[in-house]
Amino acid sequence: MKLPLAPVIGLAMGVLAALSLPSNVRAESAVDWSAIPKTTLTLFYPGQSGYDWLRSSDHKRAYSKVIEGDSCVSCHEGEEKDIGQLIVTGERLEPDPIEGKNATVDLAMQVAYDDENTHFRFQWKTQMDRPGQMHNYIRYNGEAWEFYGSHRASSKVRSGEQPPLYEDRLAIMVDDGSVPNFAAQGCWLSCHNGMRDMPEEASKDDIASNPILGSEGLNKGDIRKYLPSSRTDEEASWDATKLADEIAALKAEGKFVDLMQWRAARSAPVGMADDGYVLEYRLFDAGKNPFSWNVDRKTMTPKFMFDAEKVGVKAITVDDIGDPSKPYVLIHEENVVAYDPDAGWKAGDVLPGRLVSRAGAEGSAADNDQVTSKWEDGVWTVEWTRKRDTGHPEDDKIIEDGKAYNFGFAVHDDNVTTRFHYVGFPVSIGFGAEGDIQATPLQ
Ligand code: HEC
Repeated sequence: MKLPLAPVIGLAMGVLAALSLPSNVRAESAVDWSAIPKTTLTLFYPGQSGYDWLRSSDHKRAYSKVIEGDSCVSCHEGEEKDIGQLIVTGERLEPDPIEGKNATVDLAMQVAYDDENTHFRFQWKTQMDRPGQMHNYIRYNGEAWEFYGSHRASSKVRSGEQPPLYEDRLAIMVDDGSVPNFAAQGCWLSCHNGMRDMPEEASKDDIASNPILGSEGLNKGDIRKYLPSSRTDEEASWDATKLADEIAALKAEGKFVDLMQWRAARSAPVGMADDGYVLEYRLFDAGKNPFSWNVDRKTMTPKFMFDAEKVGVKAITVDDIGDPSKPYVLIHEENVVAYDPDAGWKAGDVLPGRLVSRAGAEGSAADNDQVTSKWEDGVWTVEWTRKRDTGHPEDDKIIEDGKAYNFGFAVHDDNVTTRFHYVGFPVSIGFGAEGDIQATPLQ
């Protein structure tokens, strides 16, 4: 299909003007979205429906089929709303429900591609009446800086001691067919007992002695997503890790899933998304992310504050949170100066505990650098252009013409993290090939 080029550019410039767009995001990321078909995916609240539960006799009449590799939609097509409702209310698979939380998110998606790039446009409604772009904030209490706010599942937010403050996110997983069963079971392959907020959560001490994940290896303090192929036992137990050279061989063969996340606080303000992959853990690609800490977490000393000459204030206050006229993010190359401990801090002053930088992002971790987003009337719109060949096949999936890829999408909405997100059954997207969804070729 050929699209008329001139009107495309005219309209696209209008769209871009409305989106937040750092000056060095290239304008050719624009597409005439009105000409691209829209698919709406229903993402649902999954609770603790992980790998282990799906293969247990609690998943009645289904577990042996799941072990054999049957697809979720072969039994659950169109059931997303019902499943989400059962789980979000705590009737099933959610020991600790969050009151009032939506059961599903409708994710509208459009996808196009040209010789160089894939282009995605996503839209979804948020439960909150402001964009979730505050994350890891710190507040001065009159004597010292402390973390302020957290995600809704934390005990301090549940008890009302702290406000809910956590960024909105959109995550994309991509498999090129190299990961067994991903086409059929998608994200659920990566979610296991032992992980943060899953049953039998692994302790720091147990993790420390694991040769791959512990102090001699990746030095992790918790368990995050991983693929069953990186484990030695049938249950894909978190601690049954394969040997380092076996894992390296899987990675070299491309047997990982690409995982990238648009983050409303930590990447969106600089027109980016992060870039990672899942194999033995959820890891970032080589190089440097667009975000880092703005606070030394041992001494709780900020590193930067707002540049008052540029944004009018050195910090915001608790009351300013959510006020769209106030700054909400520290961008290294735009609006910060070094933290001054003698600047006359008052109780209730607030700074972001994170620092964001486009200029500082590097290498494969910085591949998603053409992502624009805006929140308007309760809806996020994210336009995401990614190179088909990022030049980093060692930790990315390269999108070839004439091939379909398996995608998993997830949204973290309304101040949540970990399992408290919405996830969709996997879908295939064809780029010049058959798929559940066809990407539109552009000229
Ligand atoms: C062979 C058919 C079949 C397959 C394949 C299957 N399921 Fe199920 N699933 C069921 C049935 C039947 C139930 C209800 C069982 C019960 O009443 O306890 C269920 C229940 C569930 C529930 C609990 C909510 C509910 O409606 O009771 C979730 C969550 C779930 N399945 C997710 C999945 C996911 C994710 C996959 C893919 C990895 C999957 N299922 C694959 C048949 C299947």
